[in-house]
Amino acid sequence: MMSTQKEIPVNMVANPTVFALKNTYQIFMPFSCEVIVWVKVGEEVYYDESNGILRSNTNMHRVEVPMEALDRERSYTVVYRKMIERKPYFPTSEEPVEITYDFRPVTGDPVRIYHVSDAHNLVKSPVAAGRYWGDDIDLLVLNGDIPNHSGRVENFNAVCEIASGITGGSRPVVFSRGNHDTRGICAENFAEYTPTDNGRTYYTFRAGNIWGMVLDCGEDKPDTNAEYGHTICFHQFRLRETQFIRDVIRRAEEEYAAEDVKHKLVICHIPFSFVNHPPFDIEQELYGEWCALLREHIKPDLMLFGHNHTTKILPVGGELDHLGQPCTAVIGSKPFMPNKDRPEEHFHGCAVSMDGEEIRVIFNTDSGEILEDTKL
Ligand SMILES: [Fe+2]
Repeated sequence: MMSTQKEIPVNMVANPTVFALKNTYQIFMPFSCEVIVWVKVGEEVYYDESNGILRSNTNMHRVEVPMEALDRERSYTVVYRKMIERKPYFPTSEEPVEITYDFRPVTGDPVRIYHVSDAHNLVKSPVAAGRYWGDDIDLLVLNGDIPNHSGRVENFNAVCEIASGITGGSRPVVFSRGNHDTRGICAENFAEYTPTDNGRTYYTFRAGNIWGMVLDCGEDKPDTNAEYGHTICFHQFRLRETQFIRDVIRRAEEEYAAEDVKHKLVICHIPFSFVNHPPFDIEQELYGEWCALLREHIKPDLMLFGHNHTTKILPVGGELDHLGQPCTAVIGSKPFMPNKDRPEEHFHGCAVSMDGEEIRVIFNTDSGEILEDTKL
């Protein structure tokens, strides 16, 4: 069994996170010092670069590798050189350090997924809950509000720290942006710290026989709400996303209708198929259109949501199906922040297993308790 536990190398804040996005993996690596980085997969070398320049003026490094190459090789080597002085002429760096990671792509059925959202910068308890499958985990989903907000660059480390604790750099991870991720001065630089499709936070991905679509609602209240102080324009962003969904449907054969797709997931931080009370009752027409497009064309098997800080299964036609859910949905995380009455953090998350016959949803706690175990 390929281990998901690996010691964190010196100078790294966490082990790498291998994000699946379209038909590539974007490997993110947070460091505690200035380094230049590349990744070897088989004979090929992939650099963290900007127009031919190896990047060192960042703590979060990113290398994109073809999915097909890493799925084939099942191993990658991170190579970094710690910079001594990056001067304009004759910059100096230490000798290279190499760390090799095993990698296991999603291969077949059953597929075992763990879902974490709304960690709000907690790491220890989401990792404890997220170890539910142990080394059997195939795919980790990080579904928004993992950092508490984007007000400080360091908050982004929580994404890689949780992924590192659960996967040890050895399993694919899917990331979606949450509404708290849109807040703070660093929110506009999100693409430097988290995986995006050329800066876009909505995209499709493949992971073995899974096809998935990550959607991003942005904020949960009108753009004009005083909380945002005139700093957002999510209505237009969501309209572009509607176009993106239509475009995916137009290219169905290359996407969800491809021959080897067995499971279809839709992942979104905000549960857009139910209408919350004001001022959270936004975009009913637009979200109704998203539901209709998904229901009539894409026909997903499961939707994974966060945001509401609860663990709950939402059946089609249930009391929270207001806009025509395309399939069963799950809200899958509940954080418990430390406070003066309860100094320890806690976390409830969601394990999912899928095979050809059934989907099983398990809600568990960071202390090993099973709250619910349901076959859909
Ligand atoms: Fe949220």
